[in-house]
Amino acid sequence: PHEVGSVGAEILLAEPRGFCAGVDRAIEIVERALAKFGRPIYVRHEIVHNTYVVNDLKEKGAIFIEELDEVPPGATLVFSAHGVSQAVQKEAERRGFRIFDATCPLVTKVHVEVAKLFKEGYEFLMIGHKGHPEVEGTMGQLSEGIHLVEDIDDVAKVQPKQTELLAVVTQTTLSVDDTAGILAAVKARFPKVREPKQQDICYATQNRQDAVKLLSPQVDIVIVVGSPTSSNSNRLREVAHRLGTEAYMVDNASELKAEWFDGKQRVGLTAGASAPDILVQQVIDRLRELGAISVRKLDGITETIKFPLPKGLKIDGDGPL
Ligand code: F3S
Repeated sequence: PHEVGSVGAEILLAEPRGFCAGVDRAIEIVERALAKFGRPIYVRHEIVHNTYVVNDLKEKGAIFIEELDEVPPGATLVFSAHGVSQAVQKEAERRGFRIFDATCPLVTKVHVEVAKLFKEGYEFLMIGHKGHPEVEGTMGQLSEGIHLVEDIDDVAKVQPKQTELLAVVTQTTLSVDDTAGILAAVKARFPKVREPKQQDICYATQNRQDAVKLLSPQVDIVIVVGSPTSSNSNRLREVAHRLGTEAYMVDNASELKAEWFDGKQRVGLTAGASAPDILVQQVIDRLRELGAISVRKLDGITETIKFPLPKGLKIDGDGPL
């Protein structure tokens, strides 16, 4: 194959990659709130974990906050795609904000399941990453009776009050393979545990990891476009790395290092569920500067899922939402 510059000839694009339906919806909620109510619109936490998206919305008039006392009375407030605890929900209502909830419907589904099983007397193990806002939101659906397990060691240590009515829930953006291992350990220790009907890991996380599994063996290096805080993007880099492929995650094209590509013939490229396509295009442009000649999309699942917007965000020119 022809080698030009330091990058090899070909870029292979994972399919699917980039925005999921929950991210699309969350960004649209902020944009519509801005269009309808004007700036500023307050957003609790980064709407999605992506630097470019957050900066773009800041320029358009969004103000990102972590604590509700940073929001003035009467303001419009959007909850991020990761979801919030009951305490945050109630406090926001008490303060009288106009609230739009951009929590991904697939996260809300987990919240609803937790509330339902809690009423039936269940206690929970939550598989997830400590400190991630989705984990805080899901665990915060209950004031007690939900225990975080981050790994197999935690499964051995966790002390539920009883084991008759025990259920597992998970963060939506975990490694499919790691979670299967942790879940197996949970079942070994607590044989009666109730598992989610379908995995709580969402379709977008699953599909992007599957696509990287297909991509990795065909390339010499994998580049994942995603921000450091993005759980699902980090998992994509790990999936490639575990398959033995050199892999890097970059927030944008400027973070690419020419030396990574020395002697590499094929570069695999993907993007996390919160990373916009413009960043992928910029990475492609940069790789072309470094010598890449062609871009080829791999075959993969076409995602058609789309989530409805919350009520109250209709703007002129819309059809029925
Ligand atoms: Fe929702 Fe999964 Fe995206 S939980 S926000 S569809 S990564």
